[in-house]
Parts: sequence; structure tokens; C-alpha cells
Amino acid sequence: MDWGMKNRLQRIFKEDGKTVMLALDHGYFLGPVSRLEDPRKTIEPLIPYADALMLTRGVLRNCIDPKFNTPFILRASGGNSVLGKDLSNEGIALSFEDAIRLNASAVALSVYVGTDHEHQTLINLTKLIDEGHRYGMPVLAVTAVGKELEKRDSRYLSLASRIAAELGANIVKTYYCEDFEKVVKSCFVPIVIAGGPKLKDEMDVLKMAYEAIAQGASGVDMGRNIWQSRWPVAVISAIRSIVHEKASLKKACSLFNSLKNKTK
Ligand code: R5P
Repeated sequence: MDWGMKNRLQRIFKEDGKTVMLALDHGYFLGPVSRLEDPRKTIEPLIPYADALMLTRGVLRNCIDPKFNTPFILRASGGNSVLGKDLSNEGIALSFEDAIRLNASAVALSVYVGTDHEHQTLINLTKLIDEGHRYGMPVLAVTAVGKELEKRDSRYLSLASRIAAELGANIVKTYYCEDFEKVVKSCFVPIVIAGGPKLKDEMDVLKMAYEAIAQGASGVDMGRNIWQSRWPVAVISAIRSIVHEKASLKKACSLFNSLKNKTK
């Protein structure tokens, strides 16, 4: 691996090999999703707690102060919307020239395995990976499930994650599921988990993060379950304790409870 590629990955994954990414790229197909109507307001208080941000170049240029020093992963696929017929109909929506100009630490693209656009999105991934090697830019593949949440079983997610790794993705972002260990064991690149739609109880979010890390995940790349919470700083702090400090679930929950009264 070339120096630039290694350096970018090391900015994302801390010395323990783990990362807490904060995902806020949802607007690329959802528009002004709840709590990201004004991205700057929601993101700024959380930046100190994130090892990396995952976002679009639009949010980066308009809502993030260039003095900030947190590495970021740029969303590189798009071309669809929640109103369209098929969420999987994505193309590559970012040039490497711009990703480098913006000083990205990685680029991210969704693959939709098992959909009508499986081939298209997997070829998009391979094109991005080829370019990534040319420029020393890691590629994070998201195993997207669109609206078909029932697809989130270990059989499907192992298949999609492994295909992304085989095609050359440096990092795979997938969903937590029952038998998650199987997904991790059959994927030879680091896996981070998305959080999915907002859960009612923050304890369930911490449990998901805890179980994912216990079963081999290299971190989280969560969004809604952090910034749509009433206590986003408390949630991300408790997640950090799980990811980086090997906190037990009980300890992380008690950290959350103690912080939620002190922070918003
Ligand atoms: C999809 O919109 C994006 O890839 C998100 O970054 C991803 O779904 C993670 O965010 P959340 O934890 O809200 O699912």
C-alpha cells in the first residue's frame, strides 16, 4: 500500500485500529432530513467526539469550517432521491480531482447487491477503486439495503460485504444483524456498522454498538441514532467508550445516563 493510502487510513482508524465515524451524508438522497435541516448547527457540537465524518461535498464546503482537522469520508455516489422509483439507481457523483482538492481521507459509494442495479453499482465501485489506487485514496463501500430492511440478515450482509471486499474496497460499512460475527469473519477488510433508522431507546443503540464491536467490527459509522437523539453528545461519548475504551455495556449505559443530564 502506498504512503498516501496508508496515511489516509490511519487518520480514520486510530491507534487501536478502531474508529467512531459520524455519518451525515443522508441529504444526498433524503434532502433536509430531520435534525440536519441546518447541518452546521447539528454537526459542530459533535465534531470533537468524532474520529471521522462521512458527508457530502456540499455540506463540507458550506457548513464546515476549513480550520477543522477531523478526517472525512466524502460521499461519492448519488443521482437518485427518495421520491424516485428505485433508490438503487446510483452513479458515481464525485470526481477524484475534487475529493483530493477537498483533502478527503476516503470516498464512499453504495452498492445494492441483489437489486436491478446490482451490476451498475458494483461496476461503479470497481471504477472508484481503480481511481482510488491511482490517487492513494481509500474507498469505503456501503452495503445499502434501500427500503428493504428485511434484507439485513447475516447471509445477505456477508455476501454483499464480501463482494465489496473482493472488488477491492478498503472499508465496508454494513448493518448490524443476528450472527454478525459471520459477516465480520468472512470479510477480510475492516467493517464499520451503520446505525439505521432512529431507535426509540438509546440503550438499544449502545447495545448494538457493543455487540458489533464484541463480534469484531472495527467501529461504527452512525448517524441518525446519534444526531436525532435528544442527547447526541451523551450517545456519541458512550459509543466512544465502547469502541475505544472497551467499556462494558453497563458502563457505557451509565456513562450515557450521567452525561445526558449535563449535555444536550
Ligand atoms: C445513508 O444514507 C448513508 O450511507 C448513511 O451514512 C448511513 O446509512 C449511516 O447512517 P445511519 O446510522 O443514520 O443509518
